[in-house]
Amino acid sequence: MPILRPFEEKDQNQAMKLFYQLTGTATILDAAELLADQAVECIVIEEDGIVAGFASLIKYYLPTGGKVGKIEDVIVDENFRGKGLGRKLIEELVKIAKENNLKKLQLTSSPSRVAARELYKSVGFEMKDTNVFVMNL
Ligand SMILES: CC(C)(COP(=O)(O)OP(=O)(O)OC[C@H]1O[C@@H](n2cnc3c(N)ncnc32)[C@H](O)[C@@H]1OP(=O)(O)O)[C@@H](O)C(=O)NCCC(=O)NCCS
Repeated sequence: MPILRPFEEKDQNQAMKLFYQLTGTATILDAAELLADQAVECIVIEEDGIVAGFASLIKYYLPTGGKVGKIEDVIVDENFRGKGLGRKLIEELVKIAKENNLKKLQLTSSPSRVAARELYKSVGFEMKDTNVFVMNL
């Protein structure tokens, strides 16, 4: 049975392995700093005692829209895909968002992420035709 739980400092190394699968580059994760940020809720899913997936919810206050959230960094280990873990992660973040009285959830996902886009649609996300501008700082 998969176990959903909050991300903890002890998950740091496993999370970095997952992030490598997500981004294709090495990520240095400072778990203590991440956990200290009250605006970020990070969850993991364990299967057979292994941290097999990670997802996060960023909560923020939009001047025109009130409390909203953004889902970021969703990843399931390639050895554990297709078993419903990704769906469980997203459904849990939606539940947390509702518990936090967030009015809206957003996320971005590039067209190449076919599985992710199908997952988001099947959970109830609608694709909006908004153009995203990004500046790396
Ligand atoms: C997206 C991802 C998290 C899904 O995790 P998963 O545990 O394999 O997904 P699930 O088994 O819970 O499947 C949930 C739904 O996703 C969709 N899906 C999953 N795998 C799919 C695939 N290979 N092709 C198309 N749709 C797929 C389906 O809608 C599926 O629902 P169904 O089983 O009822 O058909 C995983 O594929 C992943 O980590 N991908 C690489 C990282 C990534 O793209 N992250 C998202 C960044 S925006």
